[in-house]
Amino acid sequence: MLNPQVTSKLWTPQLGRYLDGGPLPVGEFLMIIGCQGYRKWGADAQKLVSVCPVSFASEIESPQQLIQELAKADYLAELGLATALFCAVRLPQPLLLEGEAGVGKTQAAKALAQLLDTPLIRLQCFEGIDASEALYEWNYPRQLLSIRMAESQGKSIEESSLFSREFLIERPLLQALEHVGPNPAVLLIDEVDRADEEFEAFLFEMLAESTVSVPELGTLTAQQKPIVILTSNRTRDLHDALKRRCLYHWIDYPSLEHATQIVKLRAPKASKDLAEQVAAAVSRIRTLDMQKPPGVAEAIDWVNAAMLLGVSTLDARGTEQTLGSVLKYRDDQELAREQGLAWIAGE
Ligand SMILES: Nc1ncnc2c1ncn2[C@@H]1O[C@H](COP(=O)(O)OP(=O)(O)OP(=O)(O)O)[C@@H](O)[C@H]1O
Ligand SMILES: [Mg+2]
Repeated sequence: MLNPQVTSKLWTPQLGRYLDGGPLPVGEFLMIIGCQGYRKWGADAQKLVSVCPVSFASEIESPQQLIQELAKADYLAELGLATALFCAVRLPQPLLLEGEAGVGKTQAAKALAQLLDTPLIRLQCFEGIDASEALYEWNYPRQLLSIRMAESQGKSIEESSLFSREFLIERPLLQALEHVGPNPAVLLIDEVDRADEEFEAFLFEMLAESTVSVPELGTLTAQQKPIVILTSNRTRDLHDALKRRCLYHWIDYPSLEHATQIVKLRAPKASKDLAEQVAAAVSRIRTLDMQKPPGVAEAIDWVNAAMLLGVSTLDARGTEQTLGSVLKYRDDQELAREQGLAWIAGE
């Protein structure tokens, strides 16, 4: 018999339900493979019932623990971000992440999904996005086919049956609400500032109550609230009503030490010296009045380009060779040259 405590949060695909703490049927065997390793219970069991991930979301006990778990998913989070993510997972409440381009907003959601071993369902926002791209769409060709088939058989078809689940195409928001698993899905609503204000307002119901309305079907409620991460590059201010429904965290550019660690993690073949030099050069560039100050992503690209070109120590010449990896505007490159590439390289 299993320890009721350990079975209290387990999803068993074969049984199609959660085990609510009760013992397993006699003679069955449960094996759990979790993000943190491998556990086994039920010594007297004979038959394999299920192989499934542990419900890890409820097992993360502190932001510090989350930092360690994120690191295993190759994401180095500072305490502030880890605290925000921890609250988003455990409350649960949607989290709005803002920050300059390339500071790791999108990657934070990806790493979270990876460590929870749950699907990352991504809604990439753009100008003009609407409910049919975000929530659901009716499968018109299939509806038409059904009508034709019914006609050919001399039958009539009820309108209500044409607008049933069978003909519904689920888009990311609905997919996230309907996800069933040991852990909730991570729903990434990426670059929400690119969407129109009307679309922002459309998200309110989903963010506040994890419900959505489909006129033909009524209100659909999540069985398991998804973990929702919204990101914004602040191309425009978001509505206060959206912010009120979310936790908020601003991801700043990382400190020099943190940036070096990230570069080293993402470009493991780079020497520690090169990673440090590039991280320092990027932070020097950011002190200049650049049109597009470089983020973490550019630092990683810069190190990779330097290694490819055999630049083992960053100097003025190496910086000139690789400048296109870090500065993407002609004016910014000229400003860097005026300032002096030797200064940027820290010579
Ligand atoms: N803390 C971090 N730990 C590990 N990798 C990071 C971290 N921050 C950024 N990165 C890396 O930097 C790159 C850019 O990150 P990401 O795409 O998440 O940035 P972003 O903030 O979403 O940028 P944008 O606003 O342009 O979409 C990715 O390759 C990511 O792996
Ligand atoms: Mg992004």
